[in-house]
Amino acid sequence: MTTHLLVTGGAGFIGSHYVRTLLGPDGPGDVAVTVLDKLTYAGSPANLDAVRGHPGFSFVQGDICDAELVGGLMAGHDQVVHFAAESHVDRSIDGGAEFVRTNVLGTHTLVHAAHLAGVRTFVHISTDEVYGSIDEGSWTENEPLAPNSPYSASKASSDLIALSYHRTHGLDVRVTRCSNNYGHHHFPEKVIPLFVTNLLDGRPVPLYGDGAHVRDWLHIDDHVQGIELVRTKGRAGEVYNIGGGTELSNKELTGLLLEACDAEWDTDVVHVEDRKGHDRRYSVDCTRIREELGYEPRKDFRTGLAETVRWYRDNRSWWEPLKERAAL
Ligand SMILES: NC(=O)c1ccc[n+]([C@@H]2O[C@H](COP(=O)([O-])OP(=O)(O)OC[C@H]3O[C@@H](n4cnc5c(N)ncnc54)[C@H](O)[C@@H]3O)[C@@H](O)[C@H]2O)c1
Repeated sequence: MTTHLLVTGGAGFIGSHYVRTLLGPDGPGDVAVTVLDKLTYAGSPANLDAVRGHPGFSFVQGDICDAELVGGLMAGHDQVVHFAAESHVDRSIDGGAEFVRTNVLGTHTLVHAAHLAGVRTFVHISTDEVYGSIDEGSWTENEPLAPNSPYSASKASSDLIALSYHRTHGLDVRVTRCSNNYGHHHFPEKVIPLFVTNLLDGRPVPLYGDGAHVRDWLHIDDHVQGIELVRTKGRAGEVYNIGGGTELSNKELTGLLLEACDAEWDTDVVHVEDRKGHDRRYSVDCTRIREELGYEPRKDFRTGLAETVRWYRDNRSWWEPLKERAAL
């Protein structure tokens, strides 16, 4: 029997990869997908070109905060996978209102409508940033939330709202908290695509502060693998960390990107003032998803990075207009 999925934010970086994978040759084959996306600056219809003609695909342009629209859509769907968010930390530092509106109010609008419509499963996509910074070791899912940026605070709030619908109403809510994703179709304001596209254009890359901030990198294929395990086999009311297993400082990452683009430290890197409140390190413990659901990241970072750089080299027509519009 076909499962009808409502995927919010499906025109963005991770959501579109999820939809392309589900409806592609290696997908489960028993799903139909409706994407609900507002098409903000971060959403691109071109990200869904590969599935546009698929009989199981439909697209609705709209806002997750629009209760009437969301309520009407929810009735025809069995499950929700919720990606839609304002997602860029730097923008949240400039002004957090849109982050609170979309990430908190939008998530509430969705879970409330899902509860009223009797939706079977609601997968809420969150982030490792909700735990705050950790100098050593890794966070388990039991760690109290201590977010530091307006972005991560709005995501932490949305996690709590979503989980409250499980505890209060018995809605089958599952939360994933993943580390930094990388791969193709990544909006060129984020560090990897920004650096790669700058270097391809012979422009310098801006490295924040001392460059010692550490992130764990997760390829989008592995993230999709984790989300699918949680959607199909996860437990109601549970939180699952998803990591990629490659921890790098921003300095180390920059070195690898310079190497991949034949660029030099001396001429191609500018040191810029650190981001306000910049978390030093994120690290998630993935024991739960590994032992319970059999998750294992498969993409070797160097291979994934080389493929990503090649994709940006070959797809200027995708990113050049986005950079121009966003004045990046
Ligand atoms: N990119 C990462 O490294 C990363 C890491 C951890 C968690 N996440 C989470 O994963 C999810 C997806 O991230 P992404 O990088 O693909 O984001 P993205 O910014 O690339 O895409 C967000 C999508 O949501 C849509 N959207 C924004 N506001 C909306 C609204 N009000 N109504 C409907 N649609 C709206 C946008 O148009 C866009 O298509 C987010 O919830 C983010 O917090 C991302």
